[in-house]
Amino acid sequence: MKLNRRKFIKRTLIALATVEAFFLLRGSVNKVDTSSGTTELFNAGKATAFDKNKLYPFLTGQFFLKRFEDGGFLAMSFKCTHLGCVVNTNSKTGGFNCPCHASQFNKFGEVLSAPATRPLDYFPITIEKGELLIDTRKPIRRSSFNKSQLTYL
Ligand code: FES
Repeated sequence: MKLNRRKFIKRTLIALATVEAFFLLRGSVNKVDTSSGTTELFNAGKATAFDKNKLYPFLTGQFFLKRFEDGGFLAMSFKCTHLGCVVNTNSKTGGFNCPCHASQFNKFGEVLSAPATRPLDYFPITIEKGELLIDTRKPIRRSSFNKSQLTYL
């Protein structure tokens, strides 16, 4: 069965919402104000609830939370860095594909094939009382992946 792009994007968003609903039902996803009250952060839940070497999509935050083999966390934007379409996960590569113009990204968000020219943006993560707080207001541009982008417990 061949899907047109609109149906494909719709089904992808429904799938992402389903995964996020799971976390919502567990009570682990909500928005919180930091102690300063000046920055709203996205609370993804207890860091220990995330398995290593897995990817977790958060629809309302519009990011993928990846926990790598060494335990490091990286929150990558849904937005393709070409023209801003929502990227999909690629279960074969562990990376991401863009349905609009076929850019591909690896599991670190780095470009594997154009037209995108730079990796997916990532968001700063802080850990407070064991909970992952993602600042989705501050996407960080980068030219490549390096370990300094990861956050550890
Ligand atoms: S918007 Fe992703 S490849 Fe064009």
